[in-house]
Amino acid sequence: MLTLALETSCDETAAAVLRGGREALSNVISSQADIHRAYGGVVPEIASRHHLEQINYVTDMALEEAGVGLGDVGLIGVTQGPGLVGALLVGLATAKAFALALDKPIVGVNHIHAHLCANYIEHPDLEPPFMGLIVSGGHTNILKVLGRNRWEILGRTRDDAAGEAFDKVARTLGLEYPGGPAIDRLAREGDPTAVGFKRALMEKGNLDFSFSGLKTGVLNYINTSRQAGRDFNRADVAAGFQEAVVDVIRAKAMWAMESLGEKRLALAGGVASNSRLRAALEEDCRERGFELYAPSPALCTDNAAMVGAAAYYKYMEFGGDGLELDACPNLSI
Ligand code: KG4
Ligand code: ZN
Repeated sequence: MLTLALETSCDETAAAVLRGGREALSNVISSQADIHRAYGGVVPEIASRHHLEQINYVTDMALEEAGVGLGDVGLIGVTQGPGLVGALLVGLATAKAFALALDKPIVGVNHIHAHLCANYIEHPDLEPPFMGLIVSGGHTNILKVLGRNRWEILGRTRDDAAGEAFDKVARTLGLEYPGGPAIDRLAREGDPTAVGFKRALMEKGNLDFSFSGLKTGVLNYINTSRQAGRDFNRADVAAGFQEAVVDVIRAKAMWAMESLGEKRLALAGGVASNSRLRAALEEDCRERGFELYAPSPALCTDNAAMVGAAAYYKYMEFGGDGLELDACPNLSI
């Protein structure tokens, strides 16, 4: 079974072709980051317009790279939500047009769950149950993955997502959008202990996250220093902030693993590309004899291969959705 998958939830227009749930024959991403950079963040209306311009092009490329034609496709997978409504609608309308024209089933998937499914592509041996840790621009979740389409949320953010905090702190530091990779790079030149920032909800066993206080603490530090005409080292601030985020995530991930007796941890989402987070989790898992699974950076960022994996497994268990499938901008995992 070949799946053609589309992803347009934010500012990446992406298409992929998968054989089964784990083999990506192509994974084409057209990023709009350069366009939104001038505005310091994603402008929804501009994002929708660029998805419209790019979607057919990336779909053609995905088919060509996979060496298949539209007639070979057996299933259409598409992100249903969460995301920007106008952006999601471009992917959904395109996917429905393909489904109708080819007379093939369509499946709408949850973008957050799709991030986790990137691990099935990268790690052919990974099977549920395992612990999932999704850290992205809009979401931070720890979940016990019970099956391909079954999970139990153990912890979620009570306010900002980790990626959102990275982006806001980066903006205040004058770094370009997207801020996460920029902080990751700058932090390498800084001392993570030079400026200490508060870690929230650190009472043992609490698996929820809160990054809003940390973000405000960093912004206050920067603004107060500027107002007082006091010099501060941007790299130290970036490193201190990043270390605080990583400390919280690694502690909670390890509590979850230890308390539930889980041995395998699958990391996912845009922030899963963060070099410090990956190194810290690798270290923690190695020390405890746990196995860490993480997708390569191309599968951490928004992409359609992960959507194809999620769509395939959802279709195998529940069948297709109808053509009335609609965008769900606030879909939760
Ligand atoms: O998963 P994603 O592509 O979009 C959502 O589904 O939200 O995540 C995007 C987020 C952005 O906030 C971006 O700044 C962050 O992931 N990000 C990073 C890194 N690369 C991307 N954050 C920290 N370090 C990175 N290397
Ligand atoms: Zn995403």
